[in-house]
Amino acid sequence: MLLRNLRKAAVTGAGVLLAVAGLVGSGTAQAATSQPCDIYASGGTPCVAAHSTTRALYGAYSGPLYQVRRSSDNTTRDVAPLSAGGVANAATQDAFCSGTTCLITIIYDQTGRGNHLTQAPPGGFSGPAAGGYDNLANATAAPVTVGGQKAYGVYVNPGTGYRNNRTSGIATGDQPEGMYAIFDGTHYNGGCCFDYGNAETNSRDNGNGTMEAIYFGNIKVWGYGAGNGPWIMADLENGLFSGVNQHYNAGDPSISHRFLTAIVKGEPNHWAIRGGNAQSGSLSTFYNGVRPNVSGYNPMKKEGAIILGIGGDNSIGAAGTFYEGVMTSGYPSDATENAVQANITAAGYAVSGGGNPQQGVQIVGGQSGRCVDVPNSSTTNGTQVQIWDCGSGTNQRWTSTSGKQLQVYGNKCLDANGQGTANGTQVIIWDCNNQTNQQWNVNSNGTITGVQSGLCLDANAAATANGTKLILWACNGGSNQQWSLRS
Ligand code: AHR
Repeated sequence: MLLRNLRKAAVTGAGVLLAVAGLVGSGTAQAATSQPCDIYASGGTPCVAAHSTTRALYGAYSGPLYQVRRSSDNTTRDVAPLSAGGVANAATQDAFCSGTTCLITIIYDQTGRGNHLTQAPPGGFSGPAAGGYDNLANATAAPVTVGGQKAYGVYVNPGTGYRNNRTSGIATGDQPEGMYAIFDGTHYNGGCCFDYGNAETNSRDNGNGTMEAIYFGNIKVWGYGAGNGPWIMADLENGLFSGVNQHYNAGDPSISHRFLTAIVKGEPNHWAIRGGNAQSGSLSTFYNGVRPNVSGYNPMKKEGAIILGIGGDNSIGAAGTFYEGVMTSGYPSDATENAVQANITAAGYAVSGGGNPQQGVQIVGGQSGRCVDVPNSSTTNGTQVQIWDCGSGTNQRWTSTSGKQLQVYGNKCLDANGQGTANGTQVIIWDCNNQTNQQWNVNSNGTITGVQSGLCLDANAAATANGTKLILWACNGGSNQQWSLRS
């Protein structure tokens, strides 16, 4: 009875304080903290899916959060919280993945319903991996800290996607549901569709109203909000909706907090979009009203699959980063969500190392002043890199790993073509594979040398124009072999 009363209190102002202070349940046999799914349960809208690679979403949860697979021997390892209700034990991953690369293979459902997320299968569109499956996320591409503890998010490049088409307890038809997710508000694009939530069980476009998912990005093909984006919207199938009008809601702001809380919830002829800064402050409501003013969305025809990083028909054009998210049974009250937001801000998400590591650094040519760049943001293996005017694209962001790789997009590596060691060998991108032709020494004299060849990263023919290709060449002290790192 004491516990029930305390849980009820969690949706009141006093309850929020208790939850934030980590005191709910103290003096009982329960876990010491009340986490998001405890709060949703207290509000009468329990989680039916709970996914996070960074922390437990129940105070009592100590099971696996996610699974990684390493490329060196294709074995897998589960990563669990440091303690019940706690932050992920990133050291498990770091030890297991040391000297090799790891992919996130499973994001476990913490509700006990088995609604795990795994590599998305082909549907209306096929993914780039074997059998038309989508790619899996690189396990080290989104490092953060949570409450001062290291953890990793799910870094989604176009082509990456997770899904579960056989779920238990997820809303179908016009049943009410809610969902929140924490994203990196600075990592997005205009491709379709960086979603988390309810989708079709056959991975195909089954018509208006067959989805209800959180969307984040700046695509304007369907709906959009104020400014240039990115926006939190609802993917309801054949449309990303910012409000009741199919296209535009001035009340849905551009929002790009580094850690972003995004909420969509829906019940018969009623739905809402909410959002806020996952590091501090409260939630705002960006839409709260009736279903869209075009046919097919009232009543809804939700099917109950769960997607992450893709559209309902397995559209794979989107980019984004996911840290945690849940789906509920029932339409959560604003008060419940406000208490969840208080829990989120108290959790203490922060960038790892004070920078923005998944964004990497730019590699700037000493002679040209231009950046090492993957032409046209291509993700195709074998694309030769070039120098180009420095910009804001992820195709110019290189992450130096402990294995001496220079990674781009989280899963491609700067690579000496064909393991070449001769002058003129093309420098390309290729799937990271831990070979020495993908290892580089960033030297204090300003050169970058290939570990296998010993040759220098070189702007071909000492040219400085946009589009000048990069090659390996014997180190000669030339300024076309000088590089500086810029964050
Ligand atoms: O509703 C927007 C997108 O349209 C959906 O995610 C996808 O299934 C369809 O292409």
